[in-house]
Amino acid sequence: MKVIRTVSELHDTISRCRAEGKSIGLVPTMGALHAGHMSLMERARKENDVVVASVFVNPTQFNNAADLATYPRTEDADCRLMTDAGVDYAFIPSVEEIYPEPDTRVFDLGPVADVMEGPMRPGHFNGVAQIVSKLFDFVRPDRAYFGEKDFQQIAVIRRMVQLEGFDIDIVDCPIKRHPDGLAMSSRNVRLTPEQRAVAPAIHRILDESRSLRKHMNVNELKTKVIDEINAVPHMKVEYYEIVHPLTMQPITDWNDTNEPVGCITVYCGDVRLIDNIKYPKAL
Ligand code: PAF
Repeated sequence: MKVIRTVSELHDTISRCRAEGKSIGLVPTMGALHAGHMSLMERARKENDVVVASVFVNPTQFNNAADLATYPRTEDADCRLMTDAGVDYAFIPSVEEIYPEPDTRVFDLGPVADVMEGPMRPGHFNGVAQIVSKLFDFVRPDRAYFGEKDFQQIAVIRRMVQLEGFDIDIVDCPIKRHPDGLAMSSRNVRLTPEQRAVAPAIHRILDESRSLRKHMNVNELKTKVIDEINAVPHMKVEYYEIVHPLTMQPITDWNDTNEPVGCITVYCGDVRLIDNIKYPKAL
């Protein structure tokens, strides 16, 4: 695997691959890689001639300075994992390389960005659109791979792709979980042993709630999930919404869509964990 640190070297490399007629898969990441990221890279490996992965902790998507400062950075370990996953090129630029001047673009992300993470993290999705559009512009991949843990982010990226007219297939990949059910996340390393021990309750309670769909209306089920998670030590739910899988708009009736998705954010101590669950009709 070759590490590339500048946009000009990335351009040269991509031009060479294109001239050879190769298809390109891109896996954008912020590093601190884990098995969830590896699954995206392995899938990209299967579906493309060339795999590019980026590792960049994008400052414009952090609305909280402490979160940016404490975001884990593990470049050596990341490079080992990317090599194992079959990545050809790791793009690991500096902040100055990506933002030689401030990015003042404001994307009209519309309703998909107006709910859940949108109001909770003002500016976050615009920052995601800024960096992902830059990466798409540099690499012009055939396919780009994103994890479904950040369910709303995928809808926002699809909207950005539509706005910018990119011809890129956005591939969403299933959440990877630890054996105890906790969704894999770079932030999990910040949990204390006590918090890590209770964190799997999020997925357990969401998973159990799937069978309650038959017996409760949307509001009752949301309230039950929130109350049960809040009763777990260290946990405080920030929001729990059950939404349409494409528009991200909260539903009020199970018949509003065939594939509702419950999206949750929970503070476990001061670590913000996100997760989601599908509520298929036939359960
Ligand atoms: O999901 C992430 O890790 C980031 O939001 C992304 C898509 C790499 C953009 O910085």
